[in-house]
Amino acid sequence: MTLEHYSEKPIPMEIKACLFDLDGVLVDTAVYHFKAWRKLANHLGFDFTEAQNEQLKGISRVESLNKILAWGNVEKTEEEKQQLATEKNEWYVAMISKMTPAEVLPGTVDFLTAIKKAGYKIALGSASKNSALILERTQIAHFFEEIVDGNLVSKSKPDPEVFFKGATLLEVQPSECVVFEDAVAGVEAAKRAGMKAIGIGSAEVLTQADLVVQNLGQLTIGHLQQLSEL
Ligand code: BG6
Ligand code: MG
Repeated sequence: MTLEHYSEKPIPMEIKACLFDLDGVLVDTAVYHFKAWRKLANHLGFDFTEAQNEQLKGISRVESLNKILAWGNVEKTEEEKQQLATEKNEWYVAMISKMTPAEVLPGTVDFLTAIKKAGYKIALGSASKNSALILERTQIAHFFEEIVDGNLVSKSKPDPEVFFKGATLLEVQPSECVVFEDAVAGVEAAKRAGMKAIGIGSAEVLTQADLVVQNLGQLTIGHLQQLSEL
């Protein structure tokens, strides 16, 4: 490089890998989580709203249960909580076992196809312990080189563990990753990992995201290139 081309501006880090949250980004499973948790709450003698359900997005099964029990002012032992979480999961699994490829969110398959063709590495970064079943039922498993889900991590989002693991498995630096997330906790996890974050949902809610869209169908490879330059 000659001196006239020298600039003190930091060299932009090129995005090489895409890490996708599952629920609410690739598929709309929130409705099934809501139905199953609500059934459990109703059995325990109380109810909760769809607005409260928003707070359960992105957090683990056990954390969701703790929040719901607090809303109902219900106290349970650890053993009872284990049983309740298992019961809810059985109802949830019965519902997601009937999912079809039609439940993949708009634009998702086209976007995944485009980034794969363009050579980006792709991993899943989800809190769910049911990701394998969902990916299989909706026929999008083949897009993912690595699956990091609730079975592999010990700390829930907003802890960055799930995304650090994804970057390590894909053999890229955190700064070379972009995360796609619908949950506030997930966007925070991505930023804490030193990654770019594309929010799926509302810009008023996902305030920490570098860019917010309604669904993956609104994104192009150009957006990823622009993120590299930020
Ligand atoms: C996240 C969902 O992806 O997975 C949460 O947004 C859910 O709502 C969490 O609690 C754990 O899912 P599962 O399938 O392991 O109960
Ligand atoms: Mg999500």
